Amino acid sequence: MTAPWPYPRWIAHRGAGKLAPENTLAAFRLGAAHGYRMFECDAKLSADGVPFLMHDATLDRTTSGRGTGGDLAWRELAQLDAGSWHSRAHAGEPLPTLDNLARYCIANGYFLNIEIKPTPGTEEHTGRVVGEHAARLWQGQAVPPLFSSFKPDALAGARATAPHIPRALLIDALWDGCLDVARELGCVAIVCNHALWDAALVAQVQGWGLRTLSYTVNDEWAAQRLIDLGTDGIITDRVDLFSPAA
Ligand code: G3P
Ligand code: MG
Repeated sequence: MTAPWPYPRWIAHRGAGKLAPENTLAAFRLGAAHGYRMFECDAKLSADGVPFLMHDATLDRTTSGRGTGGDLAWRELAQLDAGSWHSRAHAGEPLPTLDNLARYCIANGYFLNIEIKPTPGTEEHTGRVVGEHAARLWQGQAVPPLFSSFKPDALAGARATAPHIPRALLIDALWDGCLDVARELGCVAIVCNHALWDAALVAQVQGWGLRTLSYTVNDEWAAQRLIDLGTDGIITDRVDLFSPAA
């Protein structure tokens, strides 16, 4: 029996793909301006345990900082410029906390997929702390966020502190026992590299009552293939190409 699924099909990757600095509030606002009602973000912890949004383990690519993001306290991370790397128009854009994005999504009725992206070596702890924050932030809301992670230990941590918030295992390449791990973790969905889905895998996963989602889908033919396969969700950078109403 497949659980009810309150989330829309279309999910804007890191806010608005590459059109704005990823994982900043400017990006989520731009994704929303393109009609998106659900977003994917990457969450990790500062050295003092504040969940904030950044994809890479290191600050170098997307901020004015250097080195491992998780080594800095939040008061230091909050000083960084997370927009100039992208464009002058976004100079000075700050790193958001997960709490910042949660407030934005809840105020506007948007759905959120929180990818737990731990600094290596902090998987379970990151899952626990992100779970604590999300449980508090979404308390009393009709629809919780959806957790996902490539790291089973991160999902186990989130389950320990927020058992009622649904979880999904991210899979880039099928590994031995990955679907069993997802089921042991009580996941409600598998989020795959979109090229992995075929009719047999969709049937197997759906047969277990799990939802089927894909990342990162940026071509029309690939999106149509996934829709034809009967999958449930598509994470895309191309908020300018795909209409989320479709
Ligand atoms: O959550 C889907 C997707 O974001 C996973 O890959 O590297 O873009 O975080 P990545
Ligand atoms: Mg991600």
